[in-house]
Amino acid sequence: MEFAARLADAATFKTDCLIVPISGKTLSPEAKAIDVATGGMLSHLRTTGDMTGTNNTFCWLHKPAGIAAKRLLLMGVGDKPLNRQALITQLSAVAKEVLKTPARNAAGLFTELTLSNPDDKQSKNTTAKNTRSDDAWIGTQLAQQFGEAQYKFEAGKTTVCHRGKLGKVTTLCNNAKTLKAVRTGNALGAAIATGSNVTRLLGDLPANVCTPGHLAKQARALARKHPKITTKVLSEKQMAELRMHSLLSVTAGTELPAYLITMEYKGGKADQKPVVLVGKGVTFDSGGISLKPGGKMDEMKYDMCGAASVFGVMEALVAAQLPINVVGIVPTVENMPSGTATRPGDVVKSMSGQTIEILNTDAEGRLILCDALTYAARFKPDTVIDIATLTGACVVALGSHATGLFSNDQVLADDLLSAGIIAGDRAWQLPLWEEYDKQLKSDFADMANIGGGGGGSATAAAFLGRFTKDYTWAHLDIAGTAWSSGPKGATGRPVPLLMEYLRGKAS
Ligand code: BES
Ligand code: MN
Ligand code: ZN
Repeated sequence: MEFAARLADAATFKTDCLIVPISGKTLSPEAKAIDVATGGMLSHLRTTGDMTGTNNTFCWLHKPAGIAAKRLLLMGVGDKPLNRQALITQLSAVAKEVLKTPARNAAGLFTELTLSNPDDKQSKNTTAKNTRSDDAWIGTQLAQQFGEAQYKFEAGKTTVCHRGKLGKVTTLCNNAKTLKAVRTGNALGAAIATGSNVTRLLGDLPANVCTPGHLAKQARALARKHPKITTKVLSEKQMAELRMHSLLSVTAGTELPAYLITMEYKGGKADQKPVVLVGKGVTFDSGGISLKPGGKMDEMKYDMCGAASVFGVMEALVAAQLPINVVGIVPTVENMPSGTATRPGDVVKSMSGQTIEILNTDAEGRLILCDALTYAARFKPDTVIDIATLTGACVVALGSHATGLFSNDQVLADDLLSAGIIAGDRAWQLPLWEEYDKQLKSDFADMANIGGGGGGSATAAAFLGRFTKDYTWAHLDIAGTAWSSGPKGATGRPVPLLMEYLRGKAS
């Protein structure tokens, strides 16, 4: 989908669909002009009660007299400055409304919306340059929401169907400054939507299609398509040479080969240290010998959404052409029970040299991540961020609204929190305390792979913390945010959060 910004008059602008925000009390000058051109139609609708400007309401008018547009979509926005998170939901609804019609293009007076201040209270210490004009923010969200609304997974088919006929969305502006801001914002939002849709497709694909081999193939395809990306795929034999026996213990029960995928995006200066993203790529998590219960086990095809978000960010980086170096690392395996599977009680030695007693084969994410995190050090990272559908406990704690965030560096934590607020893809910080680390004590190895007692998300993070001591690191537990259970589908999160963070770092 194409996005544009134009200095043009809404009443005479030729479009299949004109979108006009309507406030509660009085019409804005721009809406007033439409009212006059249509012979008082907006005032009439207010009197009849069909469109009073109440926030979150819609009204369609077809073949409106007096203006050039074929359709008019009135969007009630109320009188108060708009909460950003709520506006994102509303823009998404607008996009879906327009996509239902045969409109091939649309235009809107989006820069008239008044936003409330970002709810940035819990992250004052941010170093990232997150400040951006409201017009640029609207441009980003508009492109992102329209772009994401196009995604539809066709059940049983392994292709995405880009629904609707809509090919272009234009923001009508009344000054050059706004125009420039919207254009910059549009470019970022379109890039985020492209990335987020890649993430959703990989997540939605069934585990018999989206195997570790499929992810390796995608990585190679990415490098062929984009000159700024290089890919390297390590085989099980090469991982064994690197002594990644923790990772390899997870793949012991499956027939499918495991891979360690590295993708490098070089958008910054040659000597600039990279941000390394490490994504959990368990293409199906049956639990292994510690088998999961049958109900909803199908959802464990989503256990590679961390990996999928790394792929999504790579696509988005190319599309947005951010001047930054980013390395994506994806350890990818399938976790299955069989005669060759790892047993509860088995002890393995990780690449770091630390030994692990595997008390529960269902706590497999941390077993593949720990070796990938040790491997990450060779890229001399500025920052390492892992992304994983790691614990059911995180879903209990935060539901589907916030990603769980842990970090050994408060500046990084604040940057990520703040990026999440701006992107409308929020995270919430949880503790990385040594009390949780102590719960990992094992009688037979340096540590157990599960923590006794409660705090399952924090003990999982503490486990990873034992492998990330040499660099600035954050862990995002996306078990609750990466997919939705009804209607089922991958959400594309946390691609918007990560892109906003990387944008801040790059500027
Ligand atoms: N992939 C799961 C975590 C998960 C569970 C994500 C439910 C989304 C929804 C992970 O591998 C897992 O099984 N974790 C266990 C850890 C436990 C055995 C310590 C869990 O959360 O139950
Ligand atoms: Mn598991
Ligand atoms: Zn898992």
